[in-house]
Order: sequence, then structure tokens, then C-alpha cells
Amino acid sequence: MPATGYRAELLSVPHDPRAAGSGAVVHHADGLLVVEGGHVAAAGDFATLVARWPGLAVRHYPGKTIVPGFVDAHVHYPQTDCIAAHGHQLLDWLERHVFPAEAAFADPAHARATADFFLGELLRNGTTSALVFATVHAASVDALFDAALARDMRIVSGKVLMDLGPPTLRDSAGPDRAESEALIARWHGRGRLGYAVTPRFALTSSDAQLAMAGDLLAAHPEALLHTHMAENHAEITAVQARFSGCADYLAVYEAFGLVGPRSVFAHCVHMEAGALARMAAAGAGAALCPTSNLFLGSGLFDLAALDAAGVRLGLGTDVGAGTSFSLLATMGEAYKVCQLRENPLDPFRALHLATAGGAQLLGIGDRVGTLQPGSEADFVVLDPAATPLLARRTAGRNVAERLFALQVLGDDRAVHATYLAGRLAHGRGPCWPESPTLADDRA
Ligand code: GUN
Ligand code: ZN
Repeated sequence: MPATGYRAELLSVPHDPRAAGSGAVVHHADGLLVVEGGHVAAAGDFATLVARWPGLAVRHYPGKTIVPGFVDAHVHYPQTDCIAAHGHQLLDWLERHVFPAEAAFADPAHARATADFFLGELLRNGTTSALVFATVHAASVDALFDAALARDMRIVSGKVLMDLGPPTLRDSAGPDRAESEALIARWHGRGRLGYAVTPRFALTSSDAQLAMAGDLLAAHPEALLHTHMAENHAEITAVQARFSGCADYLAVYEAFGLVGPRSVFAHCVHMEAGALARMAAAGAGAALCPTSNLFLGSGLFDLAALDAAGVRLGLGTDVGAGTSFSLLATMGEAYKVCQLRENPLDPFRALHLATAGGAQLLGIGDRVGTLQPGSEADFVVLDPAATPLLARRTAGRNVAERLFALQVLGDDRAVHATYLAGRLAHGRGPCWPESPTLADDRA
């Protein structure tokens, strides 16, 4: 495949602005992204770079902004149809809405149809990589990975471990790890797929199964650990009651060998400083899920405390407790949660968390999350004028103002196009699908 250029404003935040300051942001007002063989070959100022690529076919996106593909650090594909279920907090919501919906994934055809819709939603929202909960059924993992492989998406997922769930949704084999081993052998490293050992949370696994999850993680240094922690007060009280010998929620996971640099804990809303310090020392990370925490009334995560401890962070939509597949909307809600704690979130930092930060958390930061040469060409073309209000609010504004307006007012409508490894995977507007012969419009 010959190289292709994409001309637009380029914006990425490869480093955390909290540590790196203004040097964290890479911005080219009139930029050129050169893609070759599915990877970024070069990124920089259009005028400088175009001279180095004679004959380059260039697709011009005037007025648009190219950012790295979004990384959803925590989402449940089987809960696509649970979104917007009224009236309950976490434990009741799980019993009434989620467990019945997940039980339906015993039917592989239902899993395949939902996986297909789910991945389409990710792409419509500019999400190119995600850490995804499936269900307890191995076939639900097969369905998701099959669909992601066909699209060449970077998806990390795994079979949910829950041998204490309701009878309709429970591991009958208990601590037997054969099913997980077979899934890892079948899927990990195929295409752009990765495996995560996924105990649902401490309450839905026996001690024997939590110990098995720890063994599995130790035996597979390539796999992640993905679970929930400290989301809701009633959940935390139940964990304390069952694991009375453990000092706190994190200590339960520590006791079973589940806390390390490959561990991603969704939520971490109600955490003491000591636990955060242990998390940071272990290199474990948190996926913050603001729309979910607000929707379920779980609480306000404390970004200042997480930062003070030095915990690694990403952003998750947590659909179906989360209320949007859009990482733009999720950044906007993260800002509001931080406002309630009088700690306004910088828009460039939010973009970092939704791209490079999330990618680092998922162990794929060397491949995606930036526009740096050598990385996989997963990128999003954002339209700061996607709606009349966005157009009015962003006209004549600087990049920080436009980015923040996109976070507060934007959603899937602001995603003009999504590219996976340099291929158009989703596009809005009348001129799609993209013509394979691109006009060189440098003249
Ligand atoms: N804790 C255990 N399971 C779940 C789940 O499916 N969603 C959320 N938000 N929290 C959980
Ligand atoms: Zn979740």
C-alpha cells in the first residue's frame, strides 16, 4: 500500500500534562499525518512535511482536528441493552437488569449480534481500542474477538469469572481454569487482540476462584487483570463483611495475587490513601468511569487523591451503567465530577487519559494512543463544527477552548471519521465510503 497523507489540525497528548506540563501536547495547526502500511510514518507541519513525500496522495480535512483513536479503559459489551435502566444503585441494578441481560449470552447468536452492534458503536464514537467485559460464557468472548478480528480492532477482553453468581449466570466449573486457558490459547496475540483475566468483582467469586485467577495471571505474563473495586458503599460493606480478615478492598485482591502492573481496577471511587499508595507502588491502575458513577449514584472519584498517590489512570465509559459510548462525553462528565471536588480537569489532560493514558494502562501504549511515527494508525477526525451550537461555540477559538467545547458539547456527531490501522472504519457525511484513489490537493 502506498503512503497516504491526511491534512488537518493534528492534536495528541502522549505524555501526562500533570508531569510533563505544556511539553505533553503535540499540536500542528495545519498538520500532515502520513500513513504507510497501517502505521504512522510521519506527523508534523504540513508545509514542512509534504516536501519530504513527493507524489503523496493527500486527503484534506479542512476545519477538522485529527486526534489518536480513543481508548475505552472499561466497558461491558453485553450491557449494550442495559443502558438507561431506571432507578437502582449498583447491587440492585446488577440483580434486576444486568444479570438477566447477561444470562441471554448463553445463546451464541445473541452474543454475535450484540458484539457486532457494540463494535459499530465504538467506531461511531471514535473508540479504536477497549478493555471489555464479556460474560461468563466462553462463547461470548469468541463472539467479541471474532468480530474485533474481522474489523482489525485492538480489543482486550476475557471470560468473566463468577462462580457465586445467580444460578442462570454462574461458572458451573468453579475454580476450573481450563476454559480460560483455552480462550487465551485461542485468542491472545491474534490480530490486535489481547486477553484479560476477568473476575467480575470480589463478591461474585469464591476464594478458590479468586486464587485460580491469581494463578492464571501468574502463568500468563502477557495477560491483564480486569475487575471492579470500591465503586459503591453497599458493595464495600459486603466485601468487608465477607473478607473480615482483610484491611480493605484492595487487600482482598492482594491476598489472591491480583494486584500488579497489569491490573486494571474499574472505579476506585471510595479508596483510602493507604490503599491508593499500595496500588501505585504495585503499578496497578484505575479506570475512572464518571458517567457510570453519576448514573448509579456511586459517588465522586477523587482525582487529586489518585494523583497524589501516583496511580496510573484511564477513562472508561462503563456502558451499561455508563450512559454514553462517547469518550468525548466521558471527558466532559469527568470534568464535572472533578468540579464537584473543586479540582477542574484540564482538557488536554482529559484527552491524554482518553488516549495515551488509557493505552498505557492497557499495556498497549507502545502501539496506540498517540500519533507518533511507528505507532499503529488508529485515529479520529473530529469536527468542531458538527452541530450548530458547536460551530458557534468553537468559531475563532484557540485549540484548548475548542477541545474543551468538544468534551462538553460533543458526542458521536463530532466524530467525522474513524480510522483503524490507516483504513477508514467509520465516516459521517455524504462522501463515504472514501474513494481509494485520493486526489493530491497540494496545488
Ligand atoms: N461491579 C460488578 N459488576 C459490575 C458491573 O457489571 N457494572 C458495574 N458498574 N459495576 C460492577
Ligand atoms: Zn463495569
